[in-house]
Amino acid sequence: MALRAAVFSLDGVLVLPSIAAALVSIEETLALPRGFLNEVFKKGGPDGSSARLIKGKMTFSQWVPLMEEDCRKHSEASGICLPENFSINQIFGKAISARKINRPIFQAALTLRKKGFTTCILTNNWLVDSAQRGSLAQLMSELRLHFDFLIESCHAGMAKPEPQIYKLVLDTLQANPNEVVFLDDTEANLKPVRDLGMTTILVQDTDAALRELEKVTGMQLLSTTTPLPTACKPSDMSHGYVPVKPGVRLHFVELGTGPVVCLCHGFPESWFSWRYQIPALAQAGYRVLAVDMKGYGESSAPHEIEEYSLEVLCKEMITFLDKLGISQAVFIGHDWGGLLVWYLALFFPERVRAVASLNTPFKPMNPDVTLMETIKANPLFDYQVYFQQPGVAEAELEKNLTRTFKCLFRRGDKLGLISSLSKVSEMGGILVQFPDEPSPSTMITEEEIQFYVQQFKKSGFSRGPLNWYRNMDRNWQWGCKSVGRKILIPALMVTAEKDSVLLPEMSQHMEDWIPHLKRGHIEDCGHWTQMDRPAELNQILIEWLETDARDPPMVSKL
Ligand SMILES: *[C@@H]1O[C@H](CO)[C@@H](O)[C@H](O)[C@H]1NC(C)=O
Ligand SMILES: *[C@@H]1O[C@H](CO)[C@@H](O)[C@H](O)[C@H]1NC(C)=O
Repeated sequence: MALRAAVFSLDGVLVLPSIAAALVSIEETLALPRGFLNEVFKKGGPDGSSARLIKGKMTFSQWVPLMEEDCRKHSEASGICLPENFSINQIFGKAISARKINRPIFQAALTLRKKGFTTCILTNNWLVDSAQRGSLAQLMSELRLHFDFLIESCHAGMAKPEPQIYKLVLDTLQANPNEVVFLDDTEANLKPVRDLGMTTILVQDTDAALRELEKVTGMQLLSTTTPLPTACKPSDMSHGYVPVKPGVRLHFVELGTGPVVCLCHGFPESWFSWRYQIPALAQAGYRVLAVDMKGYGESSAPHEIEEYSLEVLCKEMITFLDKLGISQAVFIGHDWGGLLVWYLALFFPERVRAVASLNTPFKPMNPDVTLMETIKANPLFDYQVYFQQPGVAEAELEKNLTRTFKCLFRRGDKLGLISSLSKVSEMGGILVQFPDEPSPSTMITEEEIQFYVQQFKKSGFSRGPLNWYRNMDRNWQWGCKSVGRKILIPALMVTAEKDSVLLPEMSQHMEDWIPHLKRGHIEDCGHWTQMDRPAELNQILIEWLETDARDPPMVSKL
C-alpha cells in the first residue's frame, strides 16, 4: 500500500537544535562533563521525575527542584563540581528558546500535505509554566497551523517510546501502519514504530533525511524553486460579522495577532482572493482581517445602487473599525479595493496606519471632466461602460458561474483576461471571446473556482459587485472634494507588469500627490496579483509592513 501519512518528531526534526543537543553545548559553557545533564534527565527511568514531567503528571516548575536535587546527588556521587549559581530553570529555559524551525523539513511537510498526505507532529514535551512559555507558544502556533494533527506527550499522558503512543498516532491518523512514514532523531523512538510495521527515517542530517523521504514517498521534496505559500482553507478560518448599519453587515476572516492589516479585494472576488497572503502576514506578526467587501460573499448585498458609492463604502469600513474597537489599521486593497483604500487615506487619514494598493493607481478626480467622460475616453475601460446598464452584464456573468470564473481568472499572458477589453460593447459581452470549455488555468484549482462559484450563488453579480461600477457621478463629486490634498501617510503602490487594464504606466505621476510613495513591481504578473505571484507579493508586503507599518506601542492618554 502506498504511503499517505507522515509523522514528524518536533525535537531534532522539525525544530533544531534538539533539547539534548542544546544541553550538550550548555554543558560545555558550564564546564560540566559531556552528557551529564542528559544522563540525569533520564535517571529514574519510566517512573522517574522526568518521565512524569513528560507525561504531564507535573509541570515544569514542579519538576525543576527535583531535577536540581538529582543533579546535586549525581555530581556528588561522581565527584563533579557544579557551578555555584547552577540553575535548571535557566539551563532548560535556554535550551527551549534556542530552538528554531528546521525550514527544509517544515517545507517538505507542507508539500506532502499539499499533495494529499495527512501530517502529524508527535512530540515528547511538557507543561511549560516558566518565563520561556511565550517563545514555545509562538513556535507551536506557527507549526500547528500547517499540520493535520499535533500529539503532545504531556496531554496524551504517554510518551515515546511507549508502544501505546504509536497506536494513538495510528488511531488519530486513521491509517494502517504500512501507510505511515515516521521521522525521529532518536533510534530508540523508532524501534517500536518499525515493530508496528511503519516506515521509519532516522533524522541525523536534514538533506539525507529529505532524500530518504523523497524515495519512500515518491514525491519531489528537495526543490530549488520557491514553493507556493500556504493557502488558507475557508473551513479552517475564524469568521466574523460586523453590523455596519441596520440590515447591513460585513463578513471577514481573521488570523494572527499584532498591528491590524485589513485586506480589501476587488471585482469580482472574495476574501478568499487573499488566501496566500493571510497566513504569511499573520506569521509575520500582524492581525489580518480579510473582508468580504459589501455586496460579496457572506457580507450584505442591498439592492440600491447608491449603497455602493465610494463615500458609503469608505464610511462603512470606518464603522467596521469602530465596531471592532480598532483605532487604526493598515489597509491593503486590490482593483476596486485599491481605489477604496486610496480614498480611505484621503478622507480618513487618522484611521489609516499605512495604505497599499495592488495594481490600482491613484489619480485625483478632474473637476473639469466627469469621471464617466474620462472612462469613456479610454478604450481600455470600455467594459466599464458595458457594466453600466443594469441587467446586461449580470445576465452574462451569472449565466454559468463556473465558466465565468474560469474565463476571468487567468494569468496575465496573451490568453489573459482582457485582451480585447476595448471591444466588449461591440462584441456584446466580456466572455464572448472565450470557448464554452475554457482550458484549465494554472493559477487556480477547480476546487478553488468552486469556492468562488458558491460565494456568488448567494448575491450574484447584480446587487453588489456590478453596482460598484454604477456610481461614477457620485464618486466623481465626492472625489472632487479631495482635490488638492496630498497623501502623506506611509503608502505603497505595487504594479503588475502584465495587468492589461491597470497598466503599470498609469501609476507614473503618483509621486505628485503621494510624495513619500514606496513602490513594488512584479514582473510577469497579470491582473490577479494575489494568486498570480503570491510569493513575490508576500515578500513585498512584509518588507514594506516591517518598515512602514510597525508602530511604537501607543499609550492611551485618556
Ligand atoms: C552563572 O555563572 C556563569 C559563569 O560565571 C554566568 O555565565 C551565568 O550567567 C551565571 N548565571 C546566573 C544565573 O547568574
Ligand atoms: C458551465 O461551464 C462549464 C465550464 O465551461 C461547463 O463544463 C458546464 O457544462 C457549463 N454548465 C452548463 C449548465 O452549461
